[in-house]
Amino acid sequence: GRKWTEIGSLDAELADETVLIRGYAQTMRAVGKNMSFLVVRRSSATVQCVLTVKEGLVSGQMVKFCNSLARESMVEVYGVVTVPMEPIKGTTQQVEIQVRKLYCIGRAVPSLPMNIEDAARSEEDIKEAEKDGNKLVRVNQDTRLNNRYLDLRTSANQAIFQLECSVEDVFRSFLRSENFVGIHTPKLIAGASEGGASVFKLDYHGQPACLAQSPQLHKQMALSSGFRRVFEIGPVFRAEDSNTHRHLCEFIGLDVEMEINEHYFEVLDIVDRLFVTIFDYLNEKCKNLLDEINKQFPFKPLKYLHKTLLLTFEEGIKMLKDAGVEIDPFGDLNTESERALGRLVFEKYATEFYILHRYPLAVRPFYTMPCYDNQLYSNSFDVFIRGEEIISGAQRVHEPDLLTARAEARGIDVSTISAYINSFRYGSFPHGGFGVGLERVVMLFCGLSNIRQTSLFPRDPHRLVP
Ligand code: 4AD
Repeated sequence: GRKWTEIGSLDAELADETVLIRGYAQTMRAVGKNMSFLVVRRSSATVQCVLTVKEGLVSGQMVKFCNSLARESMVEVYGVVTVPMEPIKGTTQQVEIQVRKLYCIGRAVPSLPMNIEDAARSEEDIKEAEKDGNKLVRVNQDTRLNNRYLDLRTSANQAIFQLECSVEDVFRSFLRSENFVGIHTPKLIAGASEGGASVFKLDYHGQPACLAQSPQLHKQMALSSGFRRVFEIGPVFRAEDSNTHRHLCEFIGLDVEMEINEHYFEVLDIVDRLFVTIFDYLNEKCKNLLDEINKQFPFKPLKYLHKTLLLTFEEGIKMLKDAGVEIDPFGDLNTESERALGRLVFEKYATEFYILHRYPLAVRPFYTMPCYDNQLYSNSFDVFIRGEEIISGAQRVHEPDLLTARAEARGIDVSTISAYINSFRYGSFPHGGFGVGLERVVMLFCGLSNIRQTSLFPRDPHRLVP
């Protein structure tokens, strides 16, 4: 009978069993006319398949057929699992398959736009080879992204997206256990939700509309609808022409909005426990994925405390000033000062994950609640991994007249958000929340250098395909 088996689960316990596997033909190596070694890969797992005419196991024609396969063709191999005398080099599985039958079910073109083994090589290996005078192919980012479906076949990339899925899983399960309800807010909306400049505009049955820059207004309206705690995992659209290592035009937002009983520290407490839970899970339960990523993109494990460090913006400014960084105490931090502060925080507190709160009101969105004791500051926060922002959040203004005044002061046409403001006219309560960029979390946790690496099919100002 047929026994479909995952390549990753082939081991000595299956010795002498007949199995059927399916995967990409990674390499074919002919040994004379009568024998061939075929390495088949699926996800991060590889196995060596041996074709030999000896004892009539396969025909000479099949050996020839194997050798003529184009790399990356999808093949099915039917054969017997054997444990070789010596350890096998170059495959993940430590058993071989003695092939009885080989089928090609999806032919690849003979010349690939990029070679998967080239794409999977680490920069370190390339440099090492260069020292010995060997020039290896370095696949540049444009080639990778133009052929993303091939680029994604590397082990590291397969692992990155499995890890990303785990972040979503833990985000969801943690919040469910804290009585948050998962919601989905509309992505087609009438106006900007985070300030006017950078929205994708579109025509909605003759009416001007745009793609949501965040679930901000609707997640708050969900609270106005009576929900006490909500979260959302969904796409977020930003039209700004930012060509950086950390900006996408479409990313996955993890959003949270919750009732506050007494203090916005209740929101910070959720951030703290949520992210420590996520990091612990990744480190404990996803070790093999992290190893796989590490092989191609070496990184040091993230240093974080089991009670997340909380610093005020003022303290941060003081640390920067003391270190000789010139900085406006009521301005926003730029990328460089955020990184500098990240380094200072790491030196002083030995953590690469921390919360900076009480930002100047002037640099936060109109819906942000001013501090009760000093209106120059706000009940708001950003959260950083390795000196880069992954979260921004705040307590919101839930009093409609103040909210209107705050929007007008920012030059926002209040008529475009009247439904949002009105939602607080029917019995509102203090609340706050935050938004997380999923791709940034995975990029920074793994110390990757570009957000395009953690977006399956990234969208940036110059890329809409594939
Ligand atoms: O800082 P942002 O714009 O804040 C909001 O959208 C608020 N509504 C959040 C809130 O609840 N107050 O976005 C939140 C997070 C950022 O910290 C960052 O991680 C990510 O979303 N982000 C981006 N990720 C990729 N590409 C972009 N262009 C991003 N812009 C923001």
